[in-house]
Amino acid sequence: MSVNISTSYPVKNNWLVYSDGEIVSLCDVHYLVNNQALNYGTGVFEGIRAYWDNDAKQLNLFRAREHYSRLIESAKVLKIDLGLSVDDLIEITINLIKKNEFKQDIYIRPLVLKKSLMPGVGFGVRLTGVDSTICINAIPMNQYASTVGVKCLISGWKRVSQYSIPSQAKITGSYVNSALAFEEAVEKGFDDAIMFNENNFCTEATTSNVFIVNNDQVYTPLVSDGILDGITRKSVIEMCEYLEITCTQKQITKKDLSLATEGFLSGTGVEILPVLAVDDIQYGLSSGPITHKLIELFNLIIRNKKSNFSHWLIPVY
Ligand SMILES: Cc1ncc(COP(=O)(O)O)c(C=O)c1O
Repeated sequence: MSVNISTSYPVKNNWLVYSDGEIVSLCDVHYLVNNQALNYGTGVFEGIRAYWDNDAKQLNLFRAREHYSRLIESAKVLKIDLGLSVDDLIEITINLIKKNEFKQDIYIRPLVLKKSLMPGVGFGVRLTGVDSTICINAIPMNQYASTVGVKCLISGWKRVSQYSIPSQAKITGSYVNSALAFEEAVEKGFDDAIMFNENNFCTEATTSNVFIVNNDQVYTPLVSDGILDGITRKSVIEMCEYLEITCTQKQITKKDLSLATEGFLSGTGVEILPVLAVDDIQYGLSSGPITHKLIELFNLIIRNKKSNFSHWLIPVY
């Protein structure tokens, strides 16, 4: 049976992925219609970038150790023991990249899914008595978001409560919330959505964390307000320290957003992305000075041009 892979990136016939201990062609990985994750959203995943350093002709994984630690923790929430350590997962990823001969910026998507009910286990939505599967897929990816910036809608959808689904775990099912908010934003002419929680505090955008700037100080929502504790968010906090910019984690209201002079999003996908407007609140036509400084530093770090941060990178070749 031929598999139609609909993607916005070029797919080679021999594109290789890691699947349950083997490196196989992407087209040879199949999931059945009774796959539990497909039916109930019981999967976890990560997004990891690797950046090409053209001077050293080297590809470096960015904060892979942190991403794989989070994958292992997310899997535990779904009662999945990967049986693989962070070091194992990094070794597998490096091997996969080498097999695909990637020598450019890439995006890596590890995906762990609840698969099928074990013999004798009753039909239904559950976590125990279900086996699981892991797949790691890597694709070429440059900067995909606008570098100028984005306009964000304050979504009518609340961020799914951390008391309903733990926000610390990257669980596939919770992304229905992000998809609904994103579609609402696009339908209303915005690029992305920022969601608030049930107590009306700012949480995060659909696939990234939120930062604002006021009086030359940086603010970002508390993890306890129900956000994913993003690895890029943590990186930004450390970069602020390095640049001697005060960065405070606090509850952020709509009023705080309206008093801010700059805003930006952080995430593996969007990297550091200026927010030009939130609803009718305008921050400017391009990134503000603090956002700009952080983007400049981030771009040096990912290309291994800042030795203080080289421990964030793991060489592939
Ligand atoms: C909901 C959500 N928040 C924040 C982030 C940013 O996290 P990270 O910087 O670890 O990619 C992501 C992306 O993974 C996300 O999906």
